[in-house]
Amino acid sequence: MSKATATAHSNIALVKYWGKRNSELMLPQNGSISMTVSDLNVNTTVEFGSFPEDSLVINNQKLNKGTEEYDDYVGIFLNVVRNVVKKDLKAKIVSESNFPIAAGLASSAAGFAALALATSKALNLPTDEKSVSILARRGSGSASRSISGGFVEWKRGEKEDGTDSVAVQIAPKDHWPEFRMLTTIVTSSAKKVKSRAGMAQTLKTCPYYKGWLESVNQDLDIVRKGIIEKDFTSVGQTSEFNALKMHATMMTTKPPIIYWMPSTLEIMQSVMAWREEGLESYFTMDAGPQVKVMCLQKDVLELKKRISELNGVQQVIECKPGDGARILDRHLF
Ligand code: PMV
Repeated sequence: MSKATATAHSNIALVKYWGKRNSELMLPQNGSISMTVSDLNVNTTVEFGSFPEDSLVINNQKLNKGTEEYDDYVGIFLNVVRNVVKKDLKAKIVSESNFPIAAGLASSAAGFAALALATSKALNLPTDEKSVSILARRGSGSASRSISGGFVEWKRGEKEDGTDSVAVQIAPKDHWPEFRMLTTIVTSSAKKVKSRAGMAQTLKTCPYYKGWLESVNQDLDIVRKGIIEKDFTSVGQTSEFNALKMHATMMTTKPPIIYWMPSTLEIMQSVMAWREEGLESYFTMDAGPQVKVMCLQKDVLELKKRISELNGVQQVIECKPGDGARILDRHLF
C-alpha cells in the first residue's frame, strides 16, 4: 500500500530561524526553538503510483505545476523523495488545513511535516522522528520542528550534508501545559514576500544580519533554559526581543520587507502597555502580519477579551503546547 495520511500541527518559533547556509538542503544559518501548537493543523493524504503526473489539492483548490506555489515547494520536495527512493513515482496529494495558508501562521511547517510523515509511511521509509524531521526540512525548514510535540529545538548542525541539522524535543507538551500562544489573525490574505525569498534577500543586503547571527546563540541558551525551568518572564522577554531583531533585519534589506500592518503594531503596543499594568504577555511575529501573544493560562480570558476589542482583529485562536505529527487511519481520498 503506497497511500498514507498524516496530521501535523504548526509551530511558532520563540527563537527564529532566518537565513539559510545551504538552500538546496535547507540548512539554517542559526538554530531555532519553537512550540508546536495545538489548534492549527494540517491533514494530508499522499498516494504514490504510476499516475500521469503529480497532483496537489490544498483546501479543495488544485495547485498546478508551473505555478510558483507548486514548483518551488511541493515540486522540489517530491523530486527529493524520488531521488531517495530512486523511482519515478508520481504523487497524488490532498491536504486540508483548519486555518488560512500562506498568511504567516506556519502553514508550510504543518503542511510539510504532515506530507513528510505520510510520504515516509507510504513509501516504507524510516518513520522515526529524526528521519522524518530531516525529510520535512527539505520541504520547509521550520517543518522539521513540527514532527515533535511540545517545545522543540532545531539544531543548526555543522555537517555539510545536513545529517545533524535536525529538530529534537526540549520538553513534551505536558511539561508546561499553562503556556499559551494567542494567535491573532488580522488578515487572511496571502503574504507578499515568502519567507524563502525574504531570507535570501536579507542575507544578501541587510547590513545588520551579522548582528542577528552573533546574538542568536545566547537567545537559544536563555529560552532553552527558561522552558526547562518554566520561567515565563525569561522566555517571553527573550522571544519577543528575538522576533524584533529578526524583523529589524527584514526591514533593513533592499528593498525593505515590512510584514506588519497597522493592527500588527496596535497589538504589539497594547501588549506592552498591558504589561506595564501587570498583565504579563509578550508578542512574536513571523513572516506575516499576524501577532502571536504569549501568556499563561491564568490570563487567557482577560487577554482574549482585550485583543478581540482592538482594531482589525478578525480572530483570536488560543493555542496550547500541542502534539507532534502522527499517522491517521482515515484517508482524505
Ligand atoms: O521554514 P520557512 O521557510 O517557513 O521559514 C520560517 C521562518 C519564520 O517563520 C519567520 C521563523 C521560524 O523560525 O519559524
